[in-house]
Amino acid sequence: MPLPESSRYQFTPDLAICKILNGLWQVSGGHGRIDPRRAIEEMFSYHDAGFTTWDLADHYGPAEDFIGEFRREFRNRHGAVRLPEIQAFTKWVPRPGRMTRRVVEDAVGISLSRMGVDALDLIQFHWWDYSDKSYLDALKHLADLQQEGKIRHLALTNFDTERLRIITDNGIRIVSNQVQYSVVDRRPAIEMADFCRDHRITLLTYGTVLGGLLAEKYLGQPEPRRGDLNTASLQKYKNMIDMWGGWPLFQELLAALKPIAERHGVSIANVGTRYILARPAVAGVILGTRLGIAEHIDDNARVFSFSLDDKDHASIEATLGKSRDLFKSIGDCGDEYR
Ligand SMILES: NC(=O)c1ccc[n+]([C@@H]2O[C@H](COP(=O)([O-])OP(=O)(O)OC[C@H]3O[C@@H](n4cnc5c(N)ncnc54)[C@H](OP(=O)(O)O)[C@@H]3O)[C@@H](O)[C@H]2O)c1
Repeated sequence: MPLPESSRYQFTPDLAICKILNGLWQVSGGHGRIDPRRAIEEMFSYHDAGFTTWDLADHYGPAEDFIGEFRREFRNRHGAVRLPEIQAFTKWVPRPGRMTRRVVEDAVGISLSRMGVDALDLIQFHWWDYSDKSYLDALKHLADLQQEGKIRHLALTNFDTERLRIITDNGIRIVSNQVQYSVVDRRPAIEMADFCRDHRITLLTYGTVLGGLLAEKYLGQPEPRRGDLNTASLQKYKNMIDMWGGWPLFQELLAALKPIAERHGVSIANVGTRYILARPAVAGVILGTRLGIAEHIDDNARVFSFSLDDKDHASIEATLGKSRDLFKSIGDCGDEYR
């Protein structure tokens, strides 16, 4: 594994992960046409480079099947003994409704079979409507399935701090919450991170490189129109930039990040990733991978070659201080989905 030891994080006693996780939303449509054969081959390139941890979901198109196929092919090439090198973190995003044991068990069973595993490394649970308290029923059934060995660890995605407290008060052990977190969207720093730190919960983050907008490619460029943004991810985070402060302020931010990147011999995306990895409670940053279309393996490996110093932080803060408060306008983590 060519990445340095500092790229690893002991996520749970039985699971070490790469601090940069490979995100598979990008294979689900809306990000260009993915060729399954090339995609699986590309998964080997990520793994061989040291990026061994995958983030996926039941609803990310073929993502769970890709993990299944990747594991089969991996076993053929390297033998079953090396399969534990792969960590695959899926999600369950149920449609609202009653959460019976049957509903939960069926959903877990489908993921197990698609991914070709006896136990899910991590299941990250999403819930659309807090006024429907059945999320607690769902989590209790998931905890039972964990006891029965079908799930190794329970996690959440896009839950706010208030609900995270209710869940932990109900005695359900959660290991992580997956949330949007970037230099632009720093809402997790307001309440979530402290709560997580106090309750041994970590954060896995997405949107950290803003779909690719946080890069040299956009420095000094006029504001893109919607039609210029050719992935669902670019469109999602352009909206976030608009709410945060708009394109001119974003240009100021890119201009502040550029000299920092140059000083460390890295890219703007690397600086944005490092910034989040250094935040309290953060275990890993998920970076979207358009398998077989584009890759940033060598560039993202540089995240582990440097750290930001006080001068870097002061220069970043000077720009961020001019932005709007997204916690006030949107709310806590995940409120943009509700
Ligand atoms: N829980 C949730 O609700 C949720 C929501 C969104 C995402 N996610 C997870 O997070 C993952 C990331 O998705 P995201 O939408 O947040 O996207 P992202 O990671 O912010 O952006 C991904 C894009 O950034 C570009 N990129 C990556 N590394 C780069 C580098 N070093 N330099 C320049 N550009 C770089 C690539 O663009 P090109 O491919 O164009 O080169 C890549 O497709 C998803 O796959 C998913 O696993 C979860």
